[in-house]
Amino acid sequence: MDKYDKIVELGRRRGFFWPSSEIYGGVAGFLDFGPMGTLLKRNIERRWREIFIHRHHGLVYEIETPVIMPAKVFEASGHVESFTDVIVECLQCHKRFRADHLILEQVGEVNGIEGMTTEELDALISKKGVRCPDCLGQLSKISKFNLLFRTNIGPYSENVAYLRPEAAQGMFVNFKSIFNSMRERLPLGLAQIGKVARNEISPRQGPIRLREFTIMEVEFFFDPRSPNCALIDDVADVKLRLLTEDMSKSKISEPICVNVSEAIREGYIKSEWLAYFMALSTRFISELGAPVESQMFIGKPPEERAHYSAQTFDQLVKLERWGWVEVSGHAYRTDYDLSRHMQYSGQDMSVFRKFDSPRKVSVLAARPRVEAIRADHEKNTYRALSVIKGTDASALRSKLSTGPVEIEGLLIRPEHVEFFEKEVMQSGERFIPHVAEPSFGADRLTYLALECAYLERGERVVLQLPPSIAPVSISVFPLVNRDGIWEKAYDVYRDLKDYGLIVEFDDSGSIGKRYARADEIGCPFAVTVDYQSLQDDTVTVRFRDTWEQRRVQVGELRGFLQGSLSMR
Ligand code: GLY
Repeated sequence: MDKYDKIVELGRRRGFFWPSSEIYGGVAGFLDFGPMGTLLKRNIERRWREIFIHRHHGLVYEIETPVIMPAKVFEASGHVESFTDVIVECLQCHKRFRADHLILEQVGEVNGIEGMTTEELDALISKKGVRCPDCLGQLSKISKFNLLFRTNIGPYSENVAYLRPEAAQGMFVNFKSIFNSMRERLPLGLAQIGKVARNEISPRQGPIRLREFTIMEVEFFFDPRSPNCALIDDVADVKLRLLTEDMSKSKISEPICVNVSEAIREGYIKSEWLAYFMALSTRFISELGAPVESQMFIGKPPEERAHYSAQTFDQLVKLERWGWVEVSGHAYRTDYDLSRHMQYSGQDMSVFRKFDSPRKVSVLAARPRVEAIRADHEKNTYRALSVIKGTDASALRSKLSTGPVEIEGLLIRPEHVEFFEKEVMQSGERFIPHVAEPSFGADRLTYLALECAYLERGERVVLQLPPSIAPVSISVFPLVNRDGIWEKAYDVYRDLKDYGLIVEFDDSGSIGKRYARADEIGCPFAVTVDYQSLQDDTVTVRFRDTWEQRRVQVGELRGFLQGSLSMR
């Protein structure tokens, strides 16, 4: 049994997690979290919220948008076209597999596999004799499979929608209205924690690869002419273990260790804000239990990056069974998403940048072609002219770039408008903000925290979870359930739980068994009320990580525990 199997066993036994819909045989890629797992996951989400959102209040705001969005959103975002994986089918048993994963399983490490074309992968399968892992049957040619879950809104088959594969799009489509309501200031970060769905082809890695999971993302909008991060000094000395894009290309596998300032100075990381969030991520992942030495950031070459990204670093952590696993992605999304939404929705996503003093600038203008309009619209010609004059020229050009569009009930064709540049005095100009994005999967982090915390001490299992994320902070035990000890213990419990801590009261079984359970759910402190407590108003506090016991006055207990809990 490796650590993964042990955690899966503990997960079920102590109420952390197990496969979903199990009474009907389970479904790969879906996970249920039990009482302890949910508390742990929520604590991880809370810490992420504190680190990435709350400490940046005024700069980063959390929002909440739906899981289901109309098809148009994902056509604009590029997911309908590009959010695909490569799939093969066994010609004998007709099972389907993710082609690149199957090749890696049967052939071992293959350099550049993520960037290979379907023809190259076909050739590799036939050269290396890759077969169906279940029946050894021959495999089909590779095709592309789109990972979006498709649905319909209402009883209309034409109202196609998708479950979001990332929370990001909810932030892009809302950017402009939030920017307007939040005093029109850049930089501006929007954040979301919520469910996403990806129809993975054949997920076989338990909590590591899920079809539905909780994503935690920030879309950080900034002016590309003022790209400096005002908070960079706070993290200048944070060490990052980096495998740059060039190092990956040269097949170097040992990362360099540089601090954030060097990483920016040397040009390893293109955006200061991206570097800033990578530093926060290093601290966050360390807090969850993975030391910096078992983390690294790997720069993705263009062919391995998502379609929207100009630079991506995946943050990886080494896990016992799964090797180096991605725990967060850091993408420099430039103005890709806002530009695409501007083009597809026809809404202006640009913002205003003021010049130091007014300048003569050349701007795009639109001139209606009256004859062409009259030929199409006859008595509506005047209305069509005012529609064209009333629409921003850039927005109009981007709308018309894909063909005719309907505006205010009138069909406007590209031949109805002539675009030209004209010189005007301006106090500023419009531009589309750029975006740096850190993105995390909360479910994977929950597994990561469990694996980092898992320890065997003799026959016993101890989950050495950081107190900041432990599902239960304190367990209170009466030594025996008589002679007034139970009542005193219950008073202690009631006092502690009224101060916002998750506290358990456990009066069943032997005290040894109660300690063992507390250790297995990662509870950092156990408080026992015994006969001496009745004499001198003290209790014992037992420390999970050392099993050391200390007597503490009941009156000082809350302060003592709060002090110990805040030590991360
Ligand atoms: N938004 C990041 C991702 O889709 O992975």
